[in-house]
Amino acid sequence: MSRRQVLAGAGGTGLLAAAASPAKAATQARRARAGRGGGTPEQIHLTWSENPATGVVVSWASPGQARRPRVRIGQRVIPAEPRPYTDGISGETVWTYHARVGGLRPGATYAYAVTADNDSDAADPFSATFRTAPAGRAPFRFTSFGDLATPNTAWVLSYGQSAYAVEAVESFEPLFHLLNGDLCYANLNPTAQPEVWRDFGNNNQTSAASRPWMPCPGNHEVEFCNGPQGFASYLSRYTLPENRVPGFAGRWYSFRVGSVLFVSLDADDVIYQDAAAFVAGPAALVPAAGTGHPAIEPGTSFYLRGYSGGAQTGWLERTLAAGRRDQTVDWIIVQMHQCAASSSSTGNGSDLGIRQEWLPLFDRYQVDLVLCGHDHDYERSFPVRGADTDAGREAATGAVVNTLRPHPVTTTDSGVFDTSRGTVHLILGCGGTDAPLDEYGTDTADGQRQAKVFTRAGQPVPSSTPGVFTRAAADAVEDAIWSAKRDTVTGYGIAVFDVDPGSGFDDHPSIKVTHYHAVGADPVNPATGDKGAPTPDYTEFETFTLVRPRQQ
Ligand SMILES: [Fe+2]
Repeated sequence: MSRRQVLAGAGGTGLLAAAASPAKAATQARRARAGRGGGTPEQIHLTWSENPATGVVVSWASPGQARRPRVRIGQRVIPAEPRPYTDGISGETVWTYHARVGGLRPGATYAYAVTADNDSDAADPFSATFRTAPAGRAPFRFTSFGDLATPNTAWVLSYGQSAYAVEAVESFEPLFHLLNGDLCYANLNPTAQPEVWRDFGNNNQTSAASRPWMPCPGNHEVEFCNGPQGFASYLSRYTLPENRVPGFAGRWYSFRVGSVLFVSLDADDVIYQDAAAFVAGPAALVPAAGTGHPAIEPGTSFYLRGYSGGAQTGWLERTLAAGRRDQTVDWIIVQMHQCAASSSSTGNGSDLGIRQEWLPLFDRYQVDLVLCGHDHDYERSFPVRGADTDAGREAATGAVVNTLRPHPVTTTDSGVFDTSRGTVHLILGCGGTDAPLDEYGTDTADGQRQAKVFTRAGQPVPSSTPGVFTRAAADAVEDAIWSAKRDTVTGYGIAVFDVDPGSGFDDHPSIKVTHYHAVGADPVNPATGDKGAPTPDYTEFETFTLVRPRQQ
């Protein structure tokens, strides 16, 4: 870690104890950066380009407009494209920059520097190193979690564990990290969204400047008055591989590393649950006068189901079909935020929308692994294929409802799973947010694991408090016979994936998965009531191996 990285990290977490309210914190954050050169890079992070073996994108923000923002790599100077946006609630303009670095060698390490003419650190600009992906069938490691938040506890759902979670990624030295949505919960701090994103970006930089962090959108990336799906901030900050679907750049994408096809989706498009931006009341959310946006009344939610009109699912089918036709692809791994198979009792649970729209495609094209977030815990399914019909019960009436319950192809927890026979789902909402949800459902009638399932479009309804609205909880339950493992000790952890392509014709490819958890990190463990605190100690919770026949 360079001196500059240390300083940048400190800048991101220095507000920890400073502010008592979001408004005060936002003002302090603006003052703190007023003294810096307007073009000084911060929130520096990498993503893969279309081909991770030969290119990355370097992205960052600066407190003001940068003059000649650029990346230096070897003898090359690459100008960055500006992509500013103005937050629709606060009216604050955010300056972001993106430099595409191509023409690199596979499996090579590069040093780079980021600067601008009005960079306060121009004499010693931010610098870091990164590694490109290997070419062909080669071993590599990646890591994953979602629901990270920021270490600045002035923000709703932020918690100190998010700094340790970023350090944990670094400690495993993955080639890259998958960040499964709900990055920083800016939409729960609506009047200070850019400041929340800034604390997130500066915390992340500790790792994301040195290896790509590939995100997907969650419900908390959806912000009022920030574009057609509310993703203006997210899309301004990330340059992601092209999906070539007009009008929907950055919402979903795919990329290849070695023999693995990674497919990143936006499940906001297919879920029934209503969990994105919301004004509960009794007060309206009033955007700053200069924005021109009217007040958002209590009971308003930003509901995205169906926003792509089927375009995402069409793209997904084409992408999966092409992946399975490709003899050089062994594995298909899907990243999304919300869950098809989660039995959290205090979190959201499962969503029929994903089961209807996407699980049949995962079956048809033998998706090996699905990585999610959303519920702040760790849960692993058995390999599942197909659906059990009429296995659900309506929560209110007990009437039978078809939740399309994922069908486990085995319920023997052998530790080795052939994913050509069924897809393993992992819930990894275990990043750093302050609301751990490591409490899971049980059917009191038969002692089986039980999952809540959303089967209907949710809309806000009046609560018992006048002028205050609430959102519908899951409307059905089912026995979660697909659930194989649940971490009841802590809601915090990180999953580490070691991809081994196999060394010969008879040597099958495998992925060793190890989940490490941060015991004691729960502010209050929901299962035991024990009070804990953020901790840097991540210890092994479980390990298992995925295998499949090599593509012939
Ligand atoms: Fe979420």
